Order: sequence, then structure tokens, then C-alpha cells
Amino acid sequence: MSAASVAVIGGTGMNSWPGFEASGELDADTPWGKPSASLQQGHFADTPVLFLARHGQGHHIPPHCINFRANLQALADAGVRRVIAAAAVGSMNEAVPPGALALPEDCIDYTWGRSHSFSDSPDMPLHHIGFTEPFSPLRERVLEGAAAASVPIHAGGVLGVTQGPRLETAAEVRRLCRDGCDLVGMTTMPEAALARELGLEYAVVAVCVNWAAGIGSGDIHGEIERFAAQGMERLRALLTAVLPSLHAEQG
Ligand code: HPA
Repeated sequence: MSAASVAVIGGTGMNSWPGFEASGELDADTPWGKPSASLQQGHFADTPVLFLARHGQGHHIPPHCINFRANLQALADAGVRRVIAAAAVGSMNEAVPPGALALPEDCIDYTWGRSHSFSDSPDMPLHHIGFTEPFSPLRERVLEGAAAASVPIHAGGVLGVTQGPRLETAAEVRRLCRDGCDLVGMTTMPEAALARELGLEYAVVAVCVNWAAGIGSGDIHGEIERFAAQGMERLRALLTAVLPSLHAEQG
């Protein structure tokens, strides 16, 4: 087992990670192909951790082309048991403005055509995984760590996961709101479900970078430019607070 039992999957805006001291990399391969990038081994806040850039080094893989199965399999094969996944999102909830962090408690999958299960051939065991609470119990550990270190984070909300790579129409966002979504992103599914199939604990930290389409000023790209850095700085503070306690728990 690798020294790092915890992995961070970094999303948009997080291809490099200030504070992460790299000590090596694993050029992983899996029956599903290669992950988005090599797994970066190193330490963050003196804690061993593996880091994977979801969109590849240099951010060249769009959400609908990510090999989620290879990503999760590579982490599991490296001995990871817990995955904290950062995801940039748009917000429909005024309690989560651009620049803020949220720990959603549930999600709705609007994606299509993605390889969303490892059970897709007669020689693979069929798992009807329970998914009532997609982010428990890791989400609760992250919340405790954030509270102990007074890192502001919105606890709760439903994350709608859309296909991308385009942003939503205003009518699509109104539908997401009617469905009960608070946030919208493009990568949490099938990532979270595949993690569950492999028995990995998984929690998504949503980094809000804009108001969703049809809400706010309408300058979505301007908002993303203005608020991404603030969101990433808060994410760094959160990980600094949370990773050491997760690693200590693991023994
Ligand atoms: N929609 C979907 N995904 C996103 C958004 C959005 O508004 N912002 C960042 N990722």
C-alpha cells in the first residue's frame, strides 16, 4: 500500500497546487486505459497525499472525455481509500456566492454517454451499489475538519452534474432549480459512483466560481476569472485543515 491513503482530484483551476511538495510520480495504467495524468506523490501540510489532475496536466481533457474509470482505478490500485474531489461549479443558491466553498450532500446526474460503471461486461461482477448518500461518510469528516479550523464552507445542497463542455441555457438552469439543485458542475458523475463501486470513500468540495446561467450579471466568464483564485485559496485552506486529520485517522 502506498503511504498516501488519501487522494485529491483537482479540477479546473487546480492543475498545480501551491503548498504541495511533490516527491515523485506514478505513471499508472489500468484495464480501462491511462488516467488523465500521472499520479503525483507528495506531501501537503506534512501529510502524504496523491494528487491527480482530472483534466490532465495543462487542462486539455474536457469533462465529457475524461476517462473516469481509469482515474478511479489508478487511485485504488495505488492504495488510496479516500478521495477528496475538487470541482468548479456554478451556483443557483445565494448562500454560495462565487468564491465560496460548499460540501454538497447529494447530486443529480444529467450526464449521458459516459462510461459510468465497472459492471459493463459478463466477466465483471455486477454491483447495484447503494448510493442514497453519495458523499457519506467522508463528507462528514471534511465538515468536522473545516469547523475545527474555522474554514468557511456551506454545508449542504444538491449538485446537478451536466454533460458540458458548454455551459447551461437559462431554461436548463431553471429546470435544475425546479429539480432541487443548488449548484451545477460537470465532473462529479460518474466519478462519485465509480469511487463507490471500488469501495472508496469520496466527497466533493464544490468551488463556486460563477452564478449559473440566467442568474447574476450574465458575465459568467468574467466571474470565473474574478473568483477562481479566491475559491482555490479557500480550498487550499480547507485541505490544510482536513488532510492531516484524515491521515491520522487512517493510522
Ligand atoms: N455550469 C456547469 N459547470 C460549471 C459552471 C457552470 O455554471 N461553472 C463552473 N463549472
